[in-house]
Amino acid sequence: MTVDLPTSAKSIESEIKQLRDEILRHEELYYVHDRPEISDVEYDALVERLRQLEEEYPELQTPDSPTLRVGGKPAEGFEQYVHRRPMLSLDNSYNIEDLRAFDERCRRLADGRAFEYVAELKIDGLSISVHYEGGVLVRGVTRGDGRVGEDVTQNVRTIRSVPLRLKVKEGGATEVRGEAYLSRKAFASLNLEREEADEPKFANPRNAAAGTIRQLDPKVVARRRLDLFAYDVLRGERKPFATHWEALDWLERAGLSVNPHRAKCSSIEEVIEFCNRMEAERDRLEYEIDGVVVKVNSTALQDEFGATTKAPRWAIAYKYPARQATTQIENIIVQVGRTGALTPVAMLTPVQLAGTVVSRATLHNEDEIKRLGVKIGDWVNIEKSGEIIPKVLSVVASRRTGAEKTFRFPRKCPVCGGVVSRPEGEVVARCVAADCTAQLKGRLLHFASRRAMRIEGLGDALAEQFVQKRMVRDVADLYKLKLEEVAALERMAEKSASNLLAQIEASKSRDLPQLVYGLGIRHVGERMAALLARTFRSLERLAAATAEEIDDIHEIGLTVAESVRDWFDDEGNRDLCRRLRDEGVRTELAGGALPAHDEAFAGRQFVLTGKLETLTRDEARALIEARGGRVTSTVSKKTDYIVAGEDAGSKLDKARALGLTIIGEAELKEMLG
Ligand code: IVH
Repeated sequence: MTVDLPTSAKSIESEIKQLRDEILRHEELYYVHDRPEISDVEYDALVERLRQLEEEYPELQTPDSPTLRVGGKPAEGFEQYVHRRPMLSLDNSYNIEDLRAFDERCRRLADGRAFEYVAELKIDGLSISVHYEGGVLVRGVTRGDGRVGEDVTQNVRTIRSVPLRLKVKEGGATEVRGEAYLSRKAFASLNLEREEADEPKFANPRNAAAGTIRQLDPKVVARRRLDLFAYDVLRGERKPFATHWEALDWLERAGLSVNPHRAKCSSIEEVIEFCNRMEAERDRLEYEIDGVVVKVNSTALQDEFGATTKAPRWAIAYKYPARQATTQIENIIVQVGRTGALTPVAMLTPVQLAGTVVSRATLHNEDEIKRLGVKIGDWVNIEKSGEIIPKVLSVVASRRTGAEKTFRFPRKCPVCGGVVSRPEGEVVARCVAADCTAQLKGRLLHFASRRAMRIEGLGDALAEQFVQKRMVRDVADLYKLKLEEVAALERMAEKSASNLLAQIEASKSRDLPQLVYGLGIRHVGERMAALLARTFRSLERLAAATAEEIDDIHEIGLTVAESVRDWFDDEGNRDLCRRLRDEGVRTELAGGALPAHDEAFAGRQFVLTGKLETLTRDEARALIEARGGRVTSTVSKKTDYIVAGEDAGSKLDKARALGLTIIGEAELKEMLG
């Protein structure tokens, strides 16, 4: 039957059909093949758009609409099993407002009655139902489409955290539900094995876990060490406990593994606190999580609130910002760093990821490009974790059109045309030209950077001109610059030139740790530089130290020691040090009178947050480090002090949630004496 619709309605009908097909295709990729091509957020947006359209035009909803059911169809190869009670999914929320809206809805439904929430981690794996009869494991089933799953009993039996017999006396049929997952460690060793066997690696632990549970050979499954965190129990179709919290306790007593990070919360504010605290902890967990699940504790209220076809109304998933996304590589460029290392970088179609727009991702080196098989024009999955530069995870092979171009790694330095060398057994290719302008520019920028000699105003454009016009051949030449020649540069005037020279002059009195760091010795980061400076107390003594003497320093290993020794063995570098000293740059430790280690600071971790009154953050950091303290950027249980200034934000909240010692600038200064 054809329905006569006005043109605009027809185009809506075709949009709905397109959306439906698109969503079904992604569901199949995700649930059946474990090969998603889009992120969860993108998928949710498609479903939400379809749901809105169907709500507006209910006559256009078809019985096969993905909004009517839970997931995709089960893969072939295992027997199907109809769940006695459907394994529902969860509604997602991506921000605190969503959580508050969920709370309001729950309170409305509870109609004045008091209730609690349970907040627990949302483990990034796949849900499994485990059946016990008379306390003995008889069946393990995947979630499948929520209604029908696959019988994977043999494989579930291999999971060590799933007991074959419950530890408590149980008469009838009991169903345990939980999330099967691979720990980061198990995932890493599985991928290593696959790499050695020349098999394609898994993109993430969740894909690896999903792929593993569908392995036909249970011996392979057993070797991969899946785990399971239980989060629900049913007897028949009923929940046997008055509260979810009791159910979790029972599961633990029965011998199942229940995630220890859980909280009973009497308000949504407590739930939010838990979400923030766990977000800070996230990277330290032994397994991956993608958020927090919030559930109404009372099972009577759960029954009352009920569920839609997709998800219960008494629970919600609070998802942390996605760390993976899919986008296209528009080009691959090669950057040359201050050590001459050539780094290929993928230039991406900009994509929103974990709160920022990402337009480039590192490809690390030539071997990585080969391993990934990546070409220009490819669609790729990218990942951003913590504060690390985004990286390319894998190529979406199914989106290839044939128009992609193979990338050839340069054999000559893309900046100076110099020889590129890649010694046997090393992955990094380097430009070995001594006069490579890219390296010199990199060294200047590093020397002038905030944590080194802090020469404000010396940015990319100026460094480029200094190098191109051959005004500066090494960092010591910066101190010889004349006002007229700097003022004559592009986009410079007398005033800005004199400001820059004043900055350069001021940098002469930076302390020894900053100078040592600024020299850019391989393997000598900020912390190593501080240790070296505090131990040897002058550049001359450091230059004269043997590799053994350096290696003797607690926390410094042989690689650093040898690298330092090699650097000072170079005649050019020794000459550079002499010229720096002759120009008046401080080469002695300024805090000469200070003890190298101070009881209150030595070995302690500090986090600085907010705007301090009189000190800049870098100054505060330098003072703390001069006493042997350590400044880190993330708040954790290991943080000893959090120094909070004005407008301190989420770090302070986290510190409060963790019960850490919070001090202000005045107290810090008091400690510093
Ligand atoms: S409760 C009706 N609790 O998240 C309640 N699910 O996005 C359904 N998941 O299919 C699940 N950790 O695979 C629950 N602590 C947890 C969970 C959890 C991970 C997964 C589960 C579910 C999916 C929904």
